[in-house]
Amino acid sequence: MSFIYLHTKNTTYVLCLMPAGKIEHIYYGRRIKEDDKALHLIESQKLEYPHSVVYNKSYGRETLDTLSLEYSEAGKGDFREPAIMVYGKLGYVNDFVYQSHRVYEGKALFCNLPSANPYNEKCTTLEITLWDASNQTEVILYYHSFYETDVITRYVKVTNKGERSITLKRVMSLQLDLEDTGYSLVSFQGEWAREMQMRIQPVISGVYTIDSKVGVSSSKHNSFVILKENGCTETHGDCYGFNLIYSGNHAEMVEVNSYDKIRVLVGINPHCFDYVLEKEESFISPEAVLTFSPDGMNGLSQKMHQFIKKHIIPKRFQGKERPILLNNWEATYFNFNKEVLLKLAKEAKEVGIELFVLDDGWFGNREDDTSSLGDWYVNEKKLGGSLDDLVKAINEMGLQFGIWVEPEMISKKSALYNKHPEWVLGKVGERLCEGRNQYILDLTRQDVCDYLVEVLTKLLSSTSISYVKWDMNRNFSDTYSNLLAPEKQGEVWHRYILGFYNVVKRLTEGFPHILFEGCAAGGNRFDLGVLCYMPQIWASDNTDAHERMGIQRGLSYGYPQCTYGAHVSTCPNHQTGRYTSMETRFNVAAFGVLGYELNLLELTEIEKKTIKNEIDYYKKHRKLLQFGQFYRLEQRKGKELYMIADESLTEGIIAYYQALQAPNPNKEKIKTYYLDNNKYYHIVSREQWIQEKDFGEHSKNLEERRVAIERFEAWGDHLNYAGFNLSEQTIHYQPGDTTRIIGDFGSRLYYISEI
Ligand code: DGJ
Repeated sequence: MSFIYLHTKNTTYVLCLMPAGKIEHIYYGRRIKEDDKALHLIESQKLEYPHSVVYNKSYGRETLDTLSLEYSEAGKGDFREPAIMVYGKLGYVNDFVYQSHRVYEGKALFCNLPSANPYNEKCTTLEITLWDASNQTEVILYYHSFYETDVITRYVKVTNKGERSITLKRVMSLQLDLEDTGYSLVSFQGEWAREMQMRIQPVISGVYTIDSKVGVSSSKHNSFVILKENGCTETHGDCYGFNLIYSGNHAEMVEVNSYDKIRVLVGINPHCFDYVLEKEESFISPEAVLTFSPDGMNGLSQKMHQFIKKHIIPKRFQGKERPILLNNWEATYFNFNKEVLLKLAKEAKEVGIELFVLDDGWFGNREDDTSSLGDWYVNEKKLGGSLDDLVKAINEMGLQFGIWVEPEMISKKSALYNKHPEWVLGKVGERLCEGRNQYILDLTRQDVCDYLVEVLTKLLSSTSISYVKWDMNRNFSDTYSNLLAPEKQGEVWHRYILGFYNVVKRLTEGFPHILFEGCAAGGNRFDLGVLCYMPQIWASDNTDAHERMGIQRGLSYGYPQCTYGAHVSTCPNHQTGRYTSMETRFNVAAFGVLGYELNLLELTEIEKKTIKNEIDYYKKHRKLLQFGQFYRLEQRKGKELYMIADESLTEGIIAYYQALQAPNPNKEKIKTYYLDNNKYYHIVSREQWIQEKDFGEHSKNLEERRVAIERFEAWGDHLNYAGFNLSEQTIHYQPGDTTRIIGDFGSRLYYISEI
């Protein structure tokens, strides 16, 4: 028996090489010492289990089904979901056995897939080589320990070293077997405009799969999941976090078998996946991300956030403050001209906005969503001149300029479709399904990828562009490529994603100064693959502050706030018809990357003043808000509390949010949990304004009034453990000098600083 230990700063991962050639998974959790004689860690098996399959009698009576294993296949008595399935010489019978392993410092990056980059931080690699004799197939398991952030990433390389072709039916990037000591699975489910809704369900016997089959990573199920031990809370207890650096069909399977073993598998969804490997060909799986926290889900989120901020986001955007933008989509939709755009830009500049983004409708003959995708040339008639003229006018106002594109799509009504119907995903001549009146381009083809790079390079070089919103507005159907042989059609889903990465890699590297924001009808492609190229993603088309709270709360479990775009929009809200105050819309959006998306020309002077104040506040605290550490403080009885604090805990901002106003409300206090016990802090609420007319009929006064400011001074340990009492909320509309007026969907921000 020999052991392999892999450490991060606070965690340890242990494997054991079994005499029969299989690898037992021994331990993953808090950091422990290395001990090569640790026989107590091995799940001994001397007896033959009734009704079981003995793996290899020459080595004893081991039954794979009863053990925690490292990377499993079907066909040799492990009846759980396998990590790998190769269809070859013996059908589905595979038998991968240990050959060798090596450990070294550093990490190689993928060339055609996005991957985590150590960027000069300590990262150790473990490579384990397995061999399946019948198919002459080699599997290399890669493990990378990102020491400081306590993350281990894993992927797998399969190489056909035989003469015959083999078909990969399944290659998962990560397998983790644990004992079932009582766990729940936390996942993030949704749909358009209701992304990232957290679900917690007990893990019970059987198989449960979180996945995407829509072609992109999908808002139906995000690829980030948590396995938490019973009793684990936000602040205490053991939990494991999993994610995948991939933008296509993914699967996160959790199985409990009859021997009380949990198996987690993370990787490309085996659904509709077949990958043929000829002699000497290799397949590399996307990289999976794994972390462990003994400090509850907040602890886990912090590790994930740090990892994304340091090793996923491109270096040039790490810690780089993002501009406050105005996007014209909800202000005008397709209905704009140069005059309207310039008027909006002028207003934007006046309230302090820094970047003007022109959304859908500026190209081809696009006046609605039925045409022109693919025709990426400027509609000069609509823009009243060239794009460069418009951009210059906007730049002269002191604003940067950004533009919307949806490159992966093609409208039937377009010049591109007339020229290249065979570029569409789907067999030429067949009836193809449409989504938002559009088809998907076949990005498995190099000629299509090259065309996109060429046409977008031309666009992005034509004028001064600082930002690109990269949209993608439909799920896949007719997933067939006209260039690939029939037996290779099972590769199309994955090859598409490789094509997507090929295009975005070339463009983002070709225009390193441009800030790209990912988008897919809102958050239909919110994943680590996109974030490796584009440092932020439009989280949802839902800009209702109340709904956004839930979406951003869900995101906060796995992604730092600098990765999600969040906009203040108009009311009644376009997605829900709900009214929330301008202050709350800001307080929610400020906990993501702030933008505005409303018709500034229709605002009252009071609203404009409010926006100006908000923007001033945001600029003052931008670094903290965008890159500080995010903590979920509390969520109960319709109240939600979050805190963002800098690394040294010298300053922070707390967001307080209330869904509905309670009559005769209870007293309330805030505990900060995470501040420095030995620092003395000052806390002050953000200056907020209400219009009395919004608060009921008691007042005929249409004037605005300032909500009473709250101030506190206290030691960190007081704030962390005892908390600070908030001023009373108004009762029966009694505004006083100290009363907190919150109301339905009301909120406040509190700035904390060491004194
Ligand atoms: C979907 C996006 O999520 C919206 O923000 C907007 O850009 C539209 N597409 C434009 O068609």
